[in-house]
Amino acid sequence: MVPSNHHLISFLLSLFFFTTVSQSQPSFRPKALILPVTKDPSSLQYLTQLNQRTPLVPVKLTLDLGGQYLWVDCEKGYLSSSYKPALCGSAQCSLAKTKTCFSECCFSSPKPGSYNNTCGLIADNTVSQTYSLRQLGQDFVSIQSTDGSNPGKIVKVPNFIFTCAATFMLQGLAKGVEGMAGLGWTKISLPAQFSAAFSFRRKFAICLSSGKGAVFFGDGPYNMLPTNIDISKSLIYTPLIFNNVSTASASFAGDTSSDYFIGVNSIKVNGKNVQFNKTLLQFGEYGFGGTKMSTVQPYTVLHASIHKAVVTIFAKELSGVPRVAGVGPFELCYNSTAIGSTPVGPAVPVIDLVLQSSNVYWRIYGANSMVQVKEDVICLGIVDGGENPTTPIVIGGHQVEDNLLQFDLAASKLGFSSSLLFRQTSCANFNYTSTA
Ligand SMILES: *[C@@H]1O[C@H](CO)[C@@H](O)[C@H](O)[C@H]1NC(C)=O
Ligand SMILES: *[C@@H]1O[C@H](CO)[C@@H](O)[C@H](O)[C@H]1NC(C)=O
Ligand SMILES: *[C@@H]1O[C@H](CO)[C@@H](O)[C@H](O)[C@H]1NC(C)=O
Ligand SMILES: *[C@@H]1O[C@H](CO)[C@@H](O)[C@H](O)[C@H]1NC(C)=O
Ligand SMILES: *[C@@H]1O[C@H](CO)[C@@H](O)[C@H](O)[C@H]1NC(C)=O
Repeated sequence: MVPSNHHLISFLLSLFFFTTVSQSQPSFRPKALILPVTKDPSSLQYLTQLNQRTPLVPVKLTLDLGGQYLWVDCEKGYLSSSYKPALCGSAQCSLAKTKTCFSECCFSSPKPGSYNNTCGLIADNTVSQTYSLRQLGQDFVSIQSTDGSNPGKIVKVPNFIFTCAATFMLQGLAKGVEGMAGLGWTKISLPAQFSAAFSFRRKFAICLSSGKGAVFFGDGPYNMLPTNIDISKSLIYTPLIFNNVSTASASFAGDTSSDYFIGVNSIKVNGKNVQFNKTLLQFGEYGFGGTKMSTVQPYTVLHASIHKAVVTIFAKELSGVPRVAGVGPFELCYNSTAIGSTPVGPAVPVIDLVLQSSNVYWRIYGANSMVQVKEDVICLGIVDGGENPTTPIVIGGHQVEDNLLQFDLAASKLGFSSSLLFRQTSCANFNYTSTA
């Protein structure tokens, strides 16, 4: 009977501690946060919504994985009693590494506050490359917490830093969108601010799909229905590479890149090496080079020479299937009735992005490589980026759908799941249903 008494005592003790701890800590401390994402079928942008201001209003935003921070249109109907501009020399300005202090007022309608003695940043619309130097401010934000399986309580961040941009900057963004949610490698991106506000490890994950998806702030688990399989348990890791020169539409000298780069050393199609000039992948002057991930590019964009090499070898490996005319922006298209299907999409050659060693690779299956453009036409979903792109390989949205990507900023590494379709689940299979 000793063991059970012992258990009873420890049970009572833990009950006691649990009660005291929860009493001395009245405010709820979330383990992780979740931001639901949906794909807009016409713009192919991934959209999310954040509740901001006092009183709270839902603000629709385009998700930008490499974006520097949150920026929203403050010119059209920004009403909030909790908005605070960041004063020059303040902690906010230095965290944001601003290089501009506005003196008198400079813009026609200084909303929501005066520009005098406030610091500014370049707000960057990475879809249309529209940018503008605007006021840094802070306002109230609320977001849903999660335990990794279900949505939980709503939590608040009182002084969330963002840039107050202008209406003209919304050019090229999906209908109803009022700004962009930047998840990039800065001290004021959404992941950085949420980690700081709730003392999370500096980690976040994205799981996108052609329908529903999410951004998770903080650590896993990421339990996907129907079997509640925890995707965080089976990730493959590769180093995240910091590009010390800005790759934004506009920047100041010395600004670093907020984009996430990985080290692709070679590309294989059906196990065959794609021949191209590897020097392109090295980082060079002015931020050139490397492989980055993007959610504002709907499809992977390759340097012209790499694109040509991949298309040539892919066509050769799939030469048994009748080709049909290319459908812009894609060159390589097929009659899909002649291609079989697998749990991971059309039965086409796999494309491997070979990373730090020959046995670490990101394998792209048919569901992520092929795009259905017409009823019986599918195309290889990669786009020719021309002879002189800043970044020779940009992995786009279609290629990351139903793949969970975890960004561990403290350890500078990326964890990737490969296609969740293999595990009979998808990024749409998180329990997004909130009872609140
Ligand atoms: C601008 O701010 C400075 C410092 O806070 C102040 O001295 C000055 O009077 C202000 N100018 C205007 C036009 O408000
Ligand atoms: C989803 O989460 C809600 C809210 O926590 C919960 O009530 C519901 O039972 C969950 N559904 C499933 C299928 O787990
Ligand atoms: C960026 O990196 C390059 C190559 O590693 C180095 O030569 C250069 O000095 C760095 N620039 C800055 C601004 O740190
Ligand atoms: C490879 O690319 C680099 C950088 O663009 C260039 O300087 C070099 O001449 C190229 N090499 C070959 C063999 O084309
Ligand atoms: C695809 O192949 C089927 C069967 O051979 C044919 O009926 C159809 O017209 C083809 N479609 C195109 C776009 O070539």
